[in-house]
Amino acid sequence: MEKNIKKLISKMTLDEKASLSGGGSFWRTKGFPKYGIPEMMLTDGPHGLRKQDETPDHLGMNESIPSTCFPTAAGLACSWNRGLIKEVGTAIGEEAQTEGVQFVLGPGANIKRSPLCGRNFEYYSEDPYLSSQLAANHIQGIQSQGISASLKHFAVNNQETNRFNIDAVVDERTLREIYLASFEGAVIEGRPWTVMAAYNKINGVFCSQNKRLLTDILRKEWGFKGFVVSDWFAVSERDKALEAGLDLEMPISAGVGKSKIIDAIKKGSLSETTLDASIERILRVIFKISDLKRNGISYNKKNHHSLAKKAALESMVLLKNEDKVLPLSKKGKIAIIGPFAKKPRYQGAGSSRINPNQLDIPFDQIKKLAPDAEITYSQGYSLENSDQEVNDGLISEAVEVSQKSDVTVIFAGLPEMYDMEGRDRKDLKLPSLQNTLIDQVCKVQKKTVVVLTNGSAVEMPWINDVKGVFESYLGGEAMADALADLLFGENNPSGKLAETFPKQLNQTPSFINFPGEKDKVEYREGLFVGYRHYDKIGIEPLFPFGYGLSYTDFKYSNIQVDKRKLLDTQELQVSIKVKNIGKRTGKEIVQLYVKENNSSVIRPLKELKAFKKVELEPDEEKSVRFTLGKRAFAYYDVSLHDWHVKSGKFEILVGKSSRDILLNETISVESTVKLKKKYTLDSTIADVMHEPAAQAIVSMIISSTERSNTDSLGIDRESVLGGIKLSSLVAISQGKYTQMKLNNLIKSLNKN
Ligand code: BGC
Repeated sequence: MEKNIKKLISKMTLDEKASLSGGGSFWRTKGFPKYGIPEMMLTDGPHGLRKQDETPDHLGMNESIPSTCFPTAAGLACSWNRGLIKEVGTAIGEEAQTEGVQFVLGPGANIKRSPLCGRNFEYYSEDPYLSSQLAANHIQGIQSQGISASLKHFAVNNQETNRFNIDAVVDERTLREIYLASFEGAVIEGRPWTVMAAYNKINGVFCSQNKRLLTDILRKEWGFKGFVVSDWFAVSERDKALEAGLDLEMPISAGVGKSKIIDAIKKGSLSETTLDASIERILRVIFKISDLKRNGISYNKKNHHSLAKKAALESMVLLKNEDKVLPLSKKGKIAIIGPFAKKPRYQGAGSSRINPNQLDIPFDQIKKLAPDAEITYSQGYSLENSDQEVNDGLISEAVEVSQKSDVTVIFAGLPEMYDMEGRDRKDLKLPSLQNTLIDQVCKVQKKTVVVLTNGSAVEMPWINDVKGVFESYLGGEAMADALADLLFGENNPSGKLAETFPKQLNQTPSFINFPGEKDKVEYREGLFVGYRHYDKIGIEPLFPFGYGLSYTDFKYSNIQVDKRKLLDTQELQVSIKVKNIGKRTGKEIVQLYVKENNSSVIRPLKELKAFKKVELEPDEEKSVRFTLGKRAFAYYDVSLHDWHVKSGKFEILVGKSSRDILLNETISVESTVKLKKKYTLDSTIADVMHEPAAQAIVSMIISSTERSNTDSLGIDRESVLGGIKLSSLVAISQGKYTQMKLNNLIKSLNKN
């Protein structure tokens, strides 16, 4: 095939090749029947298929054909269930095959830098390991159906404000350890056939023109073999983008892109070989997909709806359950408050918006599950009308209904405009009317449960007054059915937060520098994103990363490691036991974090390095095993341009959440990489003291000097002297140690 592609390209004219490197129409590539090159259709993603027939747009304004709407990534991520996410990807791939779509634009592996980002609902997590694992499985699922996933938005696309032009200024280590790591794992393990370059700039260079990003890192370092597609209308300098490694410009450019490529080749600033290599990458994927095309297939809508329910069940997070207010009894009087109970929010706004096959309504599902209960509804607040008087009336009516009930369930959450492509939120607050409603209801009803629908974290000023809180995120078309099951205990909640919920906005890591000034945003919090920040600063969040309750309980025990000392080239096996000590079957997400002890590099207090979700019946106990490789202990060393482990002790922490660590073991890892240091006269005594040749000489010089009064102050003399430059040794020894001897010492140290 490869040989034929090359031959085919050699027959194509420059004009034809330049045309193929841009879209043929809004959602399609250009076909060349005379060469047997088919037109291909690209469609959003990521949590379902948004195939538009007529009047295309990339902002989600016009209707698309019906498809299954799965929970958005923010919720899906809380399942921490790789297999489930793969199943969802597979279902989306199957729908794409059915509908004649060849590329699904997603998943999104951008990190949740701030809970304010309007598109957080489309992203998985604040943690790169979790995000990359889930994205990889999503990709594998889609591609198992012969459809290409387009991993997006590569990279550092973490805000919507000024999204087309913003320059994300990020230091190299943060870039590697946080923002790129999320894509790296997804590319290496998921092997997407296409990657979408983001709109923004990174350190001054647009992603779509960023050679380092698209060629050096993506292709050369990570081994990406597919082609890079632009985000819609992202490209302005088509020739430069091509040179950088951007293969397909989408959607159409009315011939502008094509002319730029042709002119640059004619002028000699771009080589035709570069264009040929890019066309080859595009064709390789197109032909692969064509070979995998299945005609005349259909998918089972009912099964996909059931899968959407299964995904929603695992995506919802039980945040509070005081006095076991949940599960609800199916008898008695239940008050249901809030318009989201009748008109649910189940997805975000923008290009990912889906026209669902079948939408379940929470109020109906609740009634269906509890036919013997006396269920009353009251609106409580208006989403459309913010008139205080109107709402005061609605609130007092809801209070009255709540007062007469045994338990009240309030549906609260963010209106659609808050979780939206193209816009960031200004704060983390729910609309104030909802907070007032919850306050007022809690005054008359002790058993109040809040069900939240939102794409990202919200503040909960009423948290101490309510008995129960369910975070349902944006749960897709079957969210209502899943929620009713969880409320009444037909199913056991098993989701855990994939992001931290802060108590208030000003505690968030990027608070001071989000969304930046003019067209620049500096990532000054560096590595300390999400729980890495809250841990290091010592702030108690509202709900920590990895947290979520169940209707049963789990006991952790017996941590075992297969070695206490290892080289960074070896793997470490860790196992623990987890037992269901409650009365119901449940699923537990076991999380493994690694902490470096006494590190000389600045590191987070701990980082997620492995996780597993296990299902356990009452009294059942299972062993959970993890394998950790070098990367689990490494940081990105900017001078080495590589991941590096510093020899030393590491703690293996296993627990129920980032703030509930139950088991712990300490091991040592030794680096096999010898760091070459360059010593100069400006190096310090501490720098050389580990070198045997220096040790003896330096100790001798120091001990022959007068003892300073630091000893009597109880200060460690070595550490005070450690900061002194080597150049001072001649003076300290009063000339006994000559400059020539010192120069020779430095020379010999540098030889080693
Ligand atoms: C979005 C992408 C989307 C594309 C096509 C852009 O505005 O950023 O995520 O895939 O439109 O709809």
